[in-house]
Amino acid sequence: MKETPELSKAKPFLKWAGGKSQLIPAIYSALPASMQGNENLVYVEPFIGSGAVLFWFLQQFPKTRKAVINDMNTDLSKAFAVVKKSPRKLVKALTAIERQYYSLHTIAAQRDFYLEKRERFNTRAVDAVENTALMIFMNKTCFNGLFRVNSKNEFNVPFGKNHNPRICDPEIIMTDSMLLQKVTILEGDYAKTLRYSGPDTFFYLDPPYKPISKTSSFNSYVNDVFDDREQVRLKRFCSKVTARGGKWLLSNSDPKNTNPDDVFFDKLFSGENIYVERVRAKRNINSVVSGRGRIAELLISNYTKTLPPDFPDSFIPAE
Ligand SMILES: C[S@@+](CC[C@H](N)C(=O)[O-])C[C@H]1O[C@@H](n2cnc3c(N)ncnc32)[C@H](O)[C@@H]1O
Repeated sequence: MKETPELSKAKPFLKWAGGKSQLIPAIYSALPASMQGNENLVYVEPFIGSGAVLFWFLQQFPKTRKAVINDMNTDLSKAFAVVKKSPRKLVKALTAIERQYYSLHTIAAQRDFYLEKRERFNTRAVDAVENTALMIFMNKTCFNGLFRVNSKNEFNVPFGKNHNPRICDPEIIMTDSMLLQKVTILEGDYAKTLRYSGPDTFFYLDPPYKPISKTSSFNSYVNDVFDDREQVRLKRFCSKVTARGGKWLLSNSDPKNTNPDDVFFDKLFSGENIYVERVRAKRNINSVVSGRGRIAELLISNYTKTLPPDFPDSFIPAE
């Protein structure tokens, strides 16, 4: 393992539904000008998911003074804390699981091993390092890299189709860990991040999507639903961030993709000094293959931005 890994390698240690790697070029061109070179900058991401934007942001703007991240999913917040504080222990635990997994030579044996690890995870009786190692292992080997729990908070995703994934990537874990040293990690509802808002803060908000069609209603990363009322509560939160002097950028799916008359977000965010723009991005989590093409996403902010209408494929980073 390299002791001083290159920071440019930092990227999410988990695959997460709604991961924003694809939207990074659009987010980059949508950032407020005041961000460049601001040494007091505090970056806040209240719905962290896999942290694709966080890891990119901290490398792109290394002078960022500090960052605050949060997620309602406690396994996820715990995983970020483990990567931050105990990366070596994590690599050791994950490498052990990886070796065991690869010593099995039939898919049936690998599936049994997966189910055994899933059962162990669901006992909820393991320490934080093992919890995170199991979570990463399942994330790499489960169906589509989904994280889904049932009403008893039991992880219930079946074994996946990719039987030879890279399970432990020590370089990613170590580089992520270095970047996380200036990151405060919270867990729970996003509202608790409001106290960090001030003139030098930038909030990037990526809440669970408002489902764009009946067949794409994947939004249960935690055992909770993010419905229209929640979107309205989030809008109020954004107004409070503005009142404290913070800048924010919010992304969401565009309901106009499926219903041209659906102006839910346009109405919700109408008003002075709020800017609603549309960009095109590729979407991956979708059970319907024909729905995997390019669809419009919304970028809403409390500052003006200049967005190109579309990005060539070559400009979109690989997953
Ligand atoms: C669309 S995902 C974020 C994806 C992330 N931008 C990425 O690149 O991976 C939304 C996240 O919000 C979290 N979440 C849902 N409800 C929440 C709430 N009320 N407060 C904080 N986080 C919440 C989910 O657990 C999920 O990780």
